[in-house]
Amino acid sequence: MFTKKTLRDIDLVEKYVLLRADYNVPIKDGVIKGDYRITQSIPTIKALQKQGCKIVICSHLGRPKGQDDKQFSLKPVAKELSKLLDQPVYFASDCVGEEVKEAASKLKPKEILLLENLRFHEEEKKNDEQFAQEIIDSTNAEVLVQDGFGVVHRAHASTDAIARKIPAVAGLLLESEVDNITNVMHNPKRPLMAIIGGAKIADKIDIINAFIEKADIVAIGGAMANTFLKAQDVEVGQSLVDETELDTAHDIMDKARAEAKKRKFIFYLPQDGVVSKKVESKTTTRIVDWDAQVIADIENYPANPKLSASKVARDEKILDIGPFSGAFISGAMQLSETVVWNGTMGVSEITAVHGPIGPFAHGTELIIEGLVGKFGSKPFSLLGGGDTTAYIEHRGLTDMFSHVSTGGGASLELMSGNTLPGVDVLWDK
Ligand code: 3PG
Repeated sequence: MFTKKTLRDIDLVEKYVLLRADYNVPIKDGVIKGDYRITQSIPTIKALQKQGCKIVICSHLGRPKGQDDKQFSLKPVAKELSKLLDQPVYFASDCVGEEVKEAASKLKPKEILLLENLRFHEEEKKNDEQFAQEIIDSTNAEVLVQDGFGVVHRAHASTDAIARKIPAVAGLLLESEVDNITNVMHNPKRPLMAIIGGAKIADKIDIINAFIEKADIVAIGGAMANTFLKAQDVEVGQSLVDETELDTAHDIMDKARAEAKKRKFIFYLPQDGVVSKKVESKTTTRIVDWDAQVIADIENYPANPKLSASKVARDEKILDIGPFSGAFISGAMQLSETVVWNGTMGVSEITAVHGPIGPFAHGTELIIEGLVGKFGSKPFSLLGGGDTTAYIEHRGLTDMFSHVSTGGGASLELMSGNTLPGVDVLWDK
């Protein structure tokens, strides 16, 4: 249960509210490429409007180098928000100072002002007290509503210092994110399955370890799987491998083996993969079946398959899980009540020459099909991670899952059992 006060728990009628959102969305040449984080903030904005609040929204965008790094301006977000809400959204070209003061003081109930990128001031990341006070003074803020789930794992001025100066409560998105994730970690319907993909083991050691302790099945995919495979002496050619994490991979596998001795538990590594010499749309691909030894055997019967069918060549890279591995993971899902998925299974961002599915996205697609009920059962699904959410958004499928988190690092921290400073600091119920 969420233990912090939310916007439902305090008097907000006609107050000046500073709403901290996470509008760190992909923007290219001024065009927003994915608006999931923006749409997910709308229920909180509407709840504040119901109370007649004067709403000043602040956010960061990317990691700008100084104030002139205009590719990180939040201006396109003001336009998008205005479209989504069908009302004007005023924009201030800074997050502190005279312009903000003037625009904020003109706000009427239900009106919205979006401030420019907080990270144009280095004081934001430094959690600077004085900067926090300047934001409060410039915006007339009487209450902070924290709704930027994606950034509450950082103790910055807008997630920490401001919350120590004025009443600070959670928005509806933050509440729903923390509730959904902590429920799955503390009280999941079992069997619980975790599918962990993405590139780097280092980013995910904590959640892999947490799930080895908590889940019934842990399946690994993405480039991270290559490091585990190499640690087991599977030939991986030119695949992305984190050489510095081979020992970590051994430790994780030892831990998983020990867990499987104590109870019924499966730690699954891909048994086949899609390989190619190039990471691009027009390349040729093939399946290498290094462990399951099924597909090539069937295709070549009664002859023996060539050795190359079970071996990644020196100049090839593993770029997706293979169909056997995808089917295994999807099948295991059918027996699971809860599935947590973080990280795509391959280089899913490479677009296809024809059709909607890229050459290295078939594994990720099989996971999606398993999760949305194509093979029979539909488990409770909790998705997180920047690449996973970006893929699901690009395919227009965000509504098909039980909960798609807006957080990358924040959801990993929460799943790993770590506290989130931006939540910790909010008022208790
Ligand atoms: C994210 O996208 O994970 C959040 O917006 C946090 O961004 P950061 O990693 O640059 O702090």
